Amino acid sequence: MIVSPSLLSADFCELGRVVDMINNSEAGLIHCDVMDGVFVPNISMGFPIIESVARRAAKPLDVHMMTVDPQNYVTRLRDCGAAIMNVHYEACTHLHRTVQAIRQAGMKAAVTLNPATPVCMLQDIICDVDMVLLMSVNPGFGGQKFIENTLPKLKRLKALIAESGSNALIEIDGGVNLQTGAALAAAGADVLVAGNAVLSAPEPAEVIRALAAL
Ligand code: DX5
Ligand code: ZN
Repeated sequence: MIVSPSLLSADFCELGRVVDMINNSEAGLIHCDVMDGVFVPNISMGFPIIESVARRAAKPLDVHMMTVDPQNYVTRLRDCGAAIMNVHYEACTHLHRTVQAIRQAGMKAAVTLNPATPVCMLQDIICDVDMVLLMSVNPGFGGQKFIENTLPKLKRLKALIAESGSNALIEIDGGVNLQTGAALAAAGADVLVAGNAVLSAPEPAEVIRALAAL
């Protein structure tokens, strides 16, 4: 299992140390949540922080854009050092164009679905994306409860990927802990984002190790 610890649950004064902990852990990615207070009712980190994190990070940055008009930030995000750009299906009027622009900029393109958006909306883009991120909470805040419908939804996504011949990975974000992570692993998830479960633990690297072993 690829683990992508979310920095949203970190004490931002300690960000460098948190990145060092992730660098020395079994995490495969570092998840950065960008919020604009418009697409979601919260504001988090922006480009200067992502740039600093990228300089310190030894793992690829998995950036989750919870903003309107994410297409306006493709080259800026690439220049900050992001490896993966996650854009919300619900925020993109011209999703195909945005996915092409992300890949052209040299990043991996991921499309994120809110809990209420069905997997079938991806039918005509699934072969053009590197990853699909299913939100298992409503985006905007860490520490929320996992929405159980994500498990059957993940199975529907797995079937869509298999029948279309896509190579897209499946990432899950929200309320992931060892218990929900085990169910997600059994249902076929490839990447687990975990904020609170990792960073509120006394030994964060141990939680990352346990999630990676799922
Ligand atoms: C929520 C963010 C998540 C968040 C997950 O909108 O997209 O990445 O950090 O936090 P937990 O793992 O605590 O649910
Ligand atoms: Zn996220």
